[in-house]
Amino acid sequence: MGVSGTPNPVIQVSRIRKSYGATAAVSDVSFDVGKGEVFGLIGPNGAGKTTTMECVEGVRRPDAGQISIMGLDPFRDVYQVQNRIGVQLQQAQLQKRIKVWEAVDLWASLYPKPLDGNRLLEQLGLADKRNAWFMTLSGGQKQRLFIALALINDPEVVFLDELTTGLDPQSRRAIWDLVRGIRDRGKTVLLTTHLMEEAERLCDRVAIIENGKIIDIGSPEELVGRHCPTRTVVLATGDALAEERLRAIPQIENVMRQDSKFTLQGRGDDFVTEVIQCLSENRIRVNDFRTVLPNLEDVFLKLTGHSIRD
Ligand SMILES: Nc1ncnc2c1ncn2[C@@H]1O[C@H](COP(=O)(O)OP(=O)(O)OP(=O)(O)O)[C@@H](O)[C@H]1O
Ligand SMILES: [Mg+2]
Repeated sequence: MGVSGTPNPVIQVSRIRKSYGATAAVSDVSFDVGKGEVFGLIGPNGAGKTTTMECVEGVRRPDAGQISIMGLDPFRDVYQVQNRIGVQLQQAQLQKRIKVWEAVDLWASLYPKPLDGNRLLEQLGLADKRNAWFMTLSGGQKQRLFIALALINDPEVVFLDELTTGLDPQSRRAIWDLVRGIRDRGKTVLLTTHLMEEAERLCDRVAIIENGKIIDIGSPEELVGRHCPTRTVVLATGDALAEERLRAIPQIENVMRQDSKFTLQGRGDDFVTEVIQCLSENRIRVNDFRTVLPNLEDVFLKLTGHSIRD
């Protein structure tokens, strides 16, 4: 068990600190990642996500605290660790005129048992770009190439830093599918993002990090349930008795009315069902009905007092 009760932790980070001169990039960060989990560090620019990740990769040494990855010390056992992890770097670049297959060959030559590069390029949708120069790839193709390079040694743990930043929605979705594929093959993934939607769709659990500290950890659903329990239903009805009936719903907290349009707020997972039951029992006809469920964006706002993009 890890510090937070994670069964089978592959990564254990305990109270790490890291400063660059007077800047405390990471001041007290602890979390565990279980085998086969996709774990996300989410937070605004400068929160300490990359620094934390680089400490786990063994690229940086924390000033204090402990890290264990696959039972090894990422700094002391760096060579053993490097062979078993894959790292996709934030804002990585390659030589302009290196060809895709050359980059894959070069990376493969660094490891004792690399995967078949051609198959990997096929899986990542880059087979027809084998002979293309790096500089001729689109942003999304470059990202996919970097993911291919991170996977060439068939790593047990994959690190993805801001993997879809700057990509259009379509390439982003393609990359999300790739990450799900990596997880489905039993790999553990540690990623960073400041896109809440990305975290919600990809991550089994996330740690919300700001100013070098973790504010909370949990699955997106847990975090929403814990910090934003209010559910909202918007409906429209011409029924004269609707308001009175709706106000009688046990878990209702707030009823706002604008002509025939009602905005209802209540707490807990059963609230939406209660509204539906009330409508059906009282035979109230509605010509619009929507639920507005809180998401990680709302959790972030609640916990930090500002939106992640501010
Ligand atoms: N090599 C460095 N030298 C000095 N300061 C650094 C260095 N790397 C990061 N920092 C500082 O440490 C803090 C955390 O940076 P870090 O890169 O870990 O944040 P991040 O959460 O990854 O941000 P982003 O979302 O912009 O990638 C920032 O204040 C940054 O300016
Ligand atoms: Mg970063």
